[in-house]
Parts: sequence; C-alpha cells; structure tokens
Amino acid sequence: MFVTKKLFSLSPSAKLLKNVLEGHTLHSVRGVSQSFNYEDIFKFYSDAPAPAATPLTDRDYERFISKRSALRQPGLTRQITQLSYQAGRDAVSLAEGMASSAVFPFTHLRLETSGGAEVTLEGEKLRAALQYVPTQGLPDLVSHLRQLTSDLHRPPPLPRDVLVTSGSQSGLYMAVDLLLEPGAPVLVQEHSYTGFYSVLKPYQPEVIGIPEDHHGVIPEILESVLEERLCKGQLMPKFFYLVPTGSNPTGTVLPEGRRRKIYELACRYDFLILEDDPYMFVNYTDQPVPSFLSLDSAGRVIRLDSLSKVLSPGLRAAWATAPPALLQRLQLHQEAHCLHSCTLAMAILLQLLQTWGRAGLATQLRGARALYRARRDALAAALRAHCAHLAHWHVPEGGMFFWVRLNVEDVRDMVFKTAFEKGLMLVPGQACNYDTSAPSPHLRLAFSKVKLEDMDTAARLLADVIRTEQAKACGNRAERVATHR
Ligand SMILES: Cc1ncc(COP(=O)(O)O)c(C=O)c1O
Repeated sequence: MFVTKKLFSLSPSAKLLKNVLEGHTLHSVRGVSQSFNYEDIFKFYSDAPAPAATPLTDRDYERFISKRSALRQPGLTRQITQLSYQAGRDAVSLAEGMASSAVFPFTHLRLETSGGAEVTLEGEKLRAALQYVPTQGLPDLVSHLRQLTSDLHRPPPLPRDVLVTSGSQSGLYMAVDLLLEPGAPVLVQEHSYTGFYSVLKPYQPEVIGIPEDHHGVIPEILESVLEERLCKGQLMPKFFYLVPTGSNPTGTVLPEGRRRKIYELACRYDFLILEDDPYMFVNYTDQPVPSFLSLDSAGRVIRLDSLSKVLSPGLRAAWATAPPALLQRLQLHQEAHCLHSCTLAMAILLQLLQTWGRAGLATQLRGARALYRARRDALAAALRAHCAHLAHWHVPEGGMFFWVRLNVEDVRDMVFKTAFEKGLMLVPGQACNYDTSAPSPHLRLAFSKVKLEDMDTAARLLADVIRTEQAKACGNRAERVATHR
C-alpha cells in the first residue's frame, strides 16, 4: 500500500481525496489484486504480514532531522513553478524566470532501443523536456514511479512519496545531509560502498561497521552492539545504511528473516534504515526477497532506487521514496543543490517506461540479470580453475562483485604495483572500508563489464599476480630472518 502525499500543499486527508478524484492508485487493502500479472522480477514484498510497529509521527521525525537540514526553506519561485504546472497552459505568468522555448535548439529527438522500440520527443513534449520542472521531477514520471514503487513493494499503508534524483548517489548525499550531525554515529555494513564513505567523510562520523557472513549483516551482532551502546549511555546511531541485495562489495543478499530482525531492531533502538538498492534486479538466488520498504510499518525507511545497473548509469535514472516529513527535506536539499534532475533524461526515461510497459521492462530486467549471471558464473568457474588454493571467496548471490580474501596482510602493493605491471586492474579492499589507510587482505573483483571470453585470462592473470606477490613476501621474510641472524 502506498499513499501518495504531495509536498508542502494539501493536508493528508485532502490530498487523499484529491488522489482519488485524479485516479491515483490507492490500495486500501494490502495484497489487493493488481491489473497485471506480477512476475517474480517485480516482487519485492513478502506474502507474510509486515511487522507490527507504531508509525512515527511528524513530531518523531524531528529528532532524526539534522540541524542543517532543519534550516532549509522552500524557495518561493520554486513553489510558483510547482503551481504553474498545476495551473495549466492558459494561465498568464509574469512570475517564472524560465527560458523561452523559442531559444531551444532542438526540434526532434528520436532514440531506438536494441529491441526496436522507439522513444520520440518532439513538439510540446520536447519543449517540456528541455524546460525547468518542479523539484520533485517531471510530474508524469513522478506519477509513474509512485505507481511502480507501490506495485513492486506494496509497502504498508503510510503516507509516502517519491523524489526523482540524479542517480542514487545524489539520494545518498542528500539523505546523509538530512540525518547526520558532524561526529555522530552511523551504522554501516562492515565493508560497504565506497561512494557512501565519500559522502560521510566530511562529517567525520563514528562509523559502526556491522560484520557480515555470506548472507550479509548478522542481526545478532547488530543487536549486541546497540545494546552495549545503550547500556554505556553512548550516543545512539540515527540510521543504518544498507545495500540489502547484491551488496557492494560483498555480493550478499540479505535473507527475509534477517531483514525482519533488523527492522525490528530499528523500531526497538529507534533508528531509520537508508535502503540503497541498485542491485535489486540483479539477484541470482531466484528467491523474491522483500525490501525494507515493503516491511516498513512504522515509516522508518528511506529507500533509494536506481536503474543505473540495469538500464543506463548515464541517464542518472533514480528516485528516493520516504515519508513526507523526510522527503520534504530531501526535496529542499535538491532544490538548493540543482533545482531538479535533468528534465531531458526524465522525459526519455518516462517515454521508455511507457513504451515498454511492464512487459518490456521485465524483458529488459531479465536480460540484464541473465547477462550478469552468465558473467558471474564464468568468473566463478575461472577462479575455481586458477585461484582455488590462492584465495577464498563465496560466489556472490547478487550484484556485480566477488569479494575475495587472500592470504596476505595487505593487498595495496599488489594492486598498485604487481597487478598494474602485469596489466591487471583491481580494486583493493581498502576502497570498501571507511578507513582506507588500514591494511586489507581483500580484493573486489567486478565481473559486470568483462566479456565471457576474457574471464579465464583475467583469473589466470590474477593467479599469476598472487603467486608473484607470495614469492615476494617469502623473499622478504627470508631476508628479514637472514639480517636478524
Ligand atoms: C551500492 C551503490 N549505491 C549507489 C551507487 C550509485 O548509483 P547511481 O548510478 O544510481 O548513482 C552505486 C554505484 O556503483 C552502488 O554500488
């Protein structure tokens, strides 16, 4: 269930009524039958009920909003842009400082997909695609994404809305600004997305890394960490940043039981969940797994969606979903930062999604997953063949990476010297740790862009690099022993 609520304007009940009048989908019963056939690729909810939890109130959200974010104010001209979209074309406006469409140089844009579908923008549609739009996003795309999110996750019936962002990286940046005070604690997976750490650094937070096994974060450890902090009277973290499916770099897919337990802990220890899920469609387990959004009975989830990995990162096609009290703040941030995401990219995305329909989107997603799965399998086979006794790994259940542990203290020299000299590019484990200066025995291997026929060469080169490094380490040890004698 997904109750939409427009920002800064109507009261929730008035808005609800307006949505009904405008024909927005409002599911009043969880699990209501849908007008199209749900495929597993579109199922991110559980057949079991969502956890019982007390919804947060607007007052409750105040304690999560950072001092800086609380100071953000809507720009009047942006509100007028929003109003002018609602007023329609007949209104005379001396208000908006928009560019005249007469200066736009393009008259026609035509794109063709590999499957033969066409995206054509011309006339009024193209003019709109080259113009400013409300901060929330191109209105028809916003409606489309609301519906998509509602259909895919069927979240419990609380007010929520979406904000189109320029990639989920931008959503991350804004979410951290929204929630984090300088120096405050934040929960993360022990090894996590390097782009998130880049956002965190200027805040100099206390990063609490929760260890994972090959199924992801271990909720019992999370619980003991939180309990200990509480007992010691330490500042409690306000949010947990999680990549629940196909985690970058560990490739884990958090099972439903663990998600439920983590959600329960969020309610018990009063933190929010920042769910960053760009690999949701790249889940190789073939088990539909419920998103945190789908379990969110209390309004504790800020969810970030991205089509970068399955459509095109260049389109920056992404959106955030959150309760209004939080989404309003994200929107104010986006307004101050860039006014709105790229209109042209939004218009292309909208028309692509409309042209494809759900069936076409499913075909695209299945194709992307099959391609990545084949590459994962090829690298798994090549690693087994060449590196079996040199490294340790679990075959990733989702995403684009193998997280490989070597029998060395630190991989840094190996990555930047030995591997580089032999023509192999690697990412050292440090990139996935908050503290990049500490030694790491891990490598992150990305298989997403490597052709099937090159996998074997890559694994063979890696084996060669590891052996060279081991021989060097042996030589160094022998030298040290000799000098100590
Ligand atoms: C976990 C995670 N979050 C966010 C991003 C950024 O995605 P986007 O292209 O939507 O900004 C990435 C990109 O690699 C990622 O791995």
